[in-house]
Amino acid sequence: MLYRINRKAACWCGSGKSYQECHAGFDKKLQEMKRKGYLIPKHKLIKNEKQLAGIRESGKINIAVLDYVSEHVRPGITTEEIDRLVYEKTKQLGGIPAPLNYEGFPKSVCVSINNEVCHGIPCQERVLEEGDIANIDVSTIYKGYFSDSSRMFCIGQVSDERRALVEAAKNAVMAGLSQVKPWWTLGDMGAAVNAYAQAAGYSVVYAVGGHGVGLQFHEEPYVSYVTDPDTEMVMAPGMVFTIEPMINAGAPDVWIDDDNGWTIYTEDDSDSAQWEVTVAVTDNEKGYEILAY
Ligand code: MF3
Ligand code: CO
Repeated sequence: MLYRINRKAACWCGSGKSYQECHAGFDKKLQEMKRKGYLIPKHKLIKNEKQLAGIRESGKINIAVLDYVSEHVRPGITTEEIDRLVYEKTKQLGGIPAPLNYEGFPKSVCVSINNEVCHGIPCQERVLEEGDIANIDVSTIYKGYFSDSSRMFCIGQVSDERRALVEAAKNAVMAGLSQVKPWWTLGDMGAAVNAYAQAAGYSVVYAVGGHGVGLQFHEEPYVSYVTDPDTEMVMAPGMVFTIEPMINAGAPDVWIDDDNGWTIYTEDDSDSAQWEVTVAVTDNEKGYEILAY
């Protein structure tokens, strides 16, 4: 059999550079890891500089929308009003709220309160009350590029228990980030999240995870935070995904609301907290860039 890989031809990533000076070394490294048994990403999951710039711009809108919302969140606001704020601000900045009409989702944002794990649907009847903890999850499409991040909000005075859960959920994301390095694995990252949460006395939801993001809302791979080190997909430079562990005060079990088909609750009614970042794997020493938070 004859074959020829033209190393002077344009790289598959779309950079416009030659394969030789762009991703030839990258492919060699990936193939080495594949031979050792690692799960490796398909080329379509690797973003080039132009795509990263687009996702970065999308992320800037996502960050600005969450900053804007945080100025308005207070006891007495309805989740419907939060939905309006997200819709209007996203539009004003030139973006589109990614959740709106996504697989039938009816609103522009998810707001998940107390024992709601994720995918709470805004409505006029639901009021944020003093003592609640709420996750506000914003996702933006800008010029075809997707970003996704969420933050927790303590509504007025909250109990020490709830505040501690919210803090731990944030720290769990930081623990995960510390393991995002080129050629390490998603399992390394997830194991760090899980170890942090467990040491703090909490549990990590197994049934819902993060995802690749950037050219679509939800891309491969599924990103679990209940993993062993040195397992799951290799984190290659140019991959973009979310770190968004859901941390429960009680057991990790969850159930889905059959009435609306979206909202997920803790099985034992314990509180749940989640922070989410969109992160790109880089080939510099830090190992990652946060594109949305
Ligand atoms: N950030 C959430 C996620 O990745 C957003 C879901 S929006 C929805 O799951 F439309 F799917 F609800
Ligand atoms: Co997400």
